[in-house]
Amino acid sequence: MLDGTASGSHGTQLLETEFGGHFVSFQGARTRYFDAYFAKAVAAGVRQVVILAAGLDSRAYRLPWPGGTVVYELDQPKVLEFKRDVLAEHGDSPRADRREVAVDLRDDWPLALVDSGFDPSIPTAWIAEGLLIYLPAIAQEQLFAGIDALSSSGSWVAVEEGRPMPDQVFAAKQKEERDAGQSGTFFTLIYNEQIAPAEEWFGAHGWHATATPLSGYLADVGRPIPPDDPDAGPMAAANSLVSAVKGAGSS
Ligand SMILES: C[S@@+](CC[C@H](N)C(=O)[O-])C[C@H]1O[C@@H](n2cnc3c(N)ncnc32)[C@H](O)[C@@H]1O
Repeated sequence: MLDGTASGSHGTQLLETEFGGHFVSFQGARTRYFDAYFAKAVAAGVRQVVILAAGLDSRAYRLPWPGGTVVYELDQPKVLEFKRDVLAEHGDSPRADRREVAVDLRDDWPLALVDSGFDPSIPTAWIAEGLLIYLPAIAQEQLFAGIDALSSSGSWVAVEEGRPMPDQVFAAKQKEERDAGQSGTFFTLIYNEQIAPAEEWFGAHGWHATATPLSGYLADVGRPIPPDDPDAGPMAAANSLVSAVKGAGSS
């Protein structure tokens, strides 16, 4: 997508999305960031992966996992079922031992994960992509604490996060959506909260964490977003891609 090879009808469709071309660049860039993250975790010997709020994440089917890798996918049952069925209809099958964990992340997901065979005694690579904005701060805290509690030394974590916007700006965005009869489209679906920047939270819990500002990463991959773009500019400026390794000197 970032290199322009997603052309033809699919590419055109993507570029014409109502979210606009910058959103496509953002999706492509974060996909590249997290793919590279998993490649590093796997190279370090990690063979247990947890995709939190997996949604339509197809990494279990797409990435070249070494033999013996187990990929746990957590999300709502209908989402997991939809993806499995659609990919099966297309003849795709997972390239790892893919295990679905149908659970609400505001409930006791660590228990559900362990009940599905997750082994907390071996290193894990976790990902929370496109998730934190859907959780209130208290649930973010529970999520981070759950990850930390289930992670042995040598585990990895990667998250995408955004600094909350000023309350008045968020309220105005929600009103705009409601007035347009589009409740539940985006701003009325998300929380404008953050328990703490992930680099700080994990750094304070024995992880070595590095935050990469999204705007810089987009520029690095050749898709800079003009800071004065009214919608995408503030989004890019507020978002970061963060990865961390537990008990390590570098990530
Ligand atoms: C924007 S999608 C991101 C999916 C995927 N991680 C990605 O980046 O493509 C958000 C996902 O979070 C899931 N989700 C949101 N809140 C959740 C919750 N409380 N429990 C479980 N899943 C949740 C939704 O079902 C959806 O699949």
